[in-house]
Amino acid sequence: MNNSEHKLKSNKEPRPPKACGWMAEFENEHDLLHAAEKVRDAGYTKTDAFTPFPVHGIDHALGIKPTILPFIVLCAGLTGLCTALLMQWWMNGVDYKYIISGKPFGITPASIPVSFELTILFSAFTSVLGMLALNGLPKFSNPVFTSAKFDRATNDRFFLYVDATDKYYNRESVRELLSSVDANSLDEVMEDSTPSEMPRAILLGALLLVLAGLIPSAIVLNMRSSFSDLPRWHVFFDMDFQPKKKPQQTTTIFKDGRSMRPQVPGTISRGQLEQQDPFYLGYDPMKVTSLDTDKQIYVSAVDSTAASPSLDATVQPPAASPAGGAPNLPFLDKLPIEANEENIKLGKTKYEIYCSACHGYAGFGDGLVAKRAASLAQDTWAPPSSLHLDRVQKQPVGQIFHTISKGQGKMASYASSITPQERWSIVLYVKALQRSRNANIDDVPVEQRGSLTEPTPSQTK
Ligand code: HEC
Repeated sequence: MNNSEHKLKSNKEPRPPKACGWMAEFENEHDLLHAAEKVRDAGYTKTDAFTPFPVHGIDHALGIKPTILPFIVLCAGLTGLCTALLMQWWMNGVDYKYIISGKPFGITPASIPVSFELTILFSAFTSVLGMLALNGLPKFSNPVFTSAKFDRATNDRFFLYVDATDKYYNRESVRELLSSVDANSLDEVMEDSTPSEMPRAILLGALLLVLAGLIPSAIVLNMRSSFSDLPRWHVFFDMDFQPKKKPQQTTTIFKDGRSMRPQVPGTISRGQLEQQDPFYLGYDPMKVTSLDTDKQIYVSAVDSTAASPSLDATVQPPAASPAGGAPNLPFLDKLPIEANEENIKLGKTKYEIYCSACHGYAGFGDGLVAKRAASLAQDTWAPPSSLHLDRVQKQPVGQIFHTISKGQGKMASYASSITPQERWSIVLYVKALQRSRNANIDDVPVEQRGSLTEPTPSQTK
């Protein structure tokens, strides 16, 4: 506000400044203490002292009672504690019962940190806000500032002030009382007559700040109610963008331009040793040649004239065979495990766990899953084959092993859930199932043949 405005304002309301109280100035703290005691004994309580340094005993001399702030803070702390306990009891024990590490619901030792934090939080805020409130702060101006003498309060003078709002205040009697003490001077403190309105520039600035403060919330609100195809804002990049090569990309680092590097000839990487062993493959990799090349690409293990010299020494694992086509590999036709009772039992257990759901307990492709799928009559279902089909019967054991390991057509691979040993046992059991449907009289021990009867129609299936 500029001067002309100021004048205009004061012209509008010509009011003599009000007296706010008396202020006595002292040379030293002893006089001040003495005067303060006198004022206190006269019963005045709305008093204050201003000194350039802390004066011991001044609060006693002024009759200032100890503050009740600690008590208020204690109450606030207890409120915080109760709030935290109630909140956690209600959240974990009533509103959203959720088992966390098997702990009981409601209040547990795990509630201590939150209770501690809320106790501190409530106390801290109450200390600060309570201190401000009890002191009547913030106060932008004090009438004592109007006196030019008062500037020395921070330098070498001591002041005692009696406020006009005191219960027993009487202008004359206070003046008399203060004249009787050994004061340098005694002045009546007048009201601060400078305008009390906030300058318009500050108001405007504050308004702008408040408006600017609304911008982030407005952006968040907008984002929560609208859609965007753009990726999220990336504030922290972490390692999200880094120079690297993905499979099938090209590179300029190597002469052949391939970022995926082939195996060094003659080496076997970890976990690939199994790929050299018929026990794990179901076929003999050493016998694989460039077979059936229009259907499948197997790089020769023995033929050193193969196209890519860098792939020479490695047998590539057979890729999933083209739809419907059976892989043409030198499958084992003899089981690499013993056909004993233990293995048959293992095979039966594993077959019933992993295969029967689709292929049925007897292998006719009539498992529960197959039946259910058929009853849904959706044309997307590929029925599991009967293991008694002529085609499957004729398959060498290695091929069935391969079917379990790699999958076949619509059937998925079970290699991750069934160990090779168990897979061979399943093959053994499948072979036993197949044999059971094609037995002839020679399979029955001679001494038991007499007890056989003619099969019923249902048994001839
Ligand atoms: C989720 C159902 C399902 C399970 C479980 C399942 N199969 Fe199959 N299986 C199929 C289907 C479907 C086919 C027919 C695949 C094709 O020809 O597309 C099939 C085909 C086969 C074949 C014939 C492959 C050929 O060459 O035609 C054999 C052998 C076989 N399964 C064995 C097994 C064994 C052993 C298990 C247990 C480890 C098993 N399956 C578990 C669904 C299943």
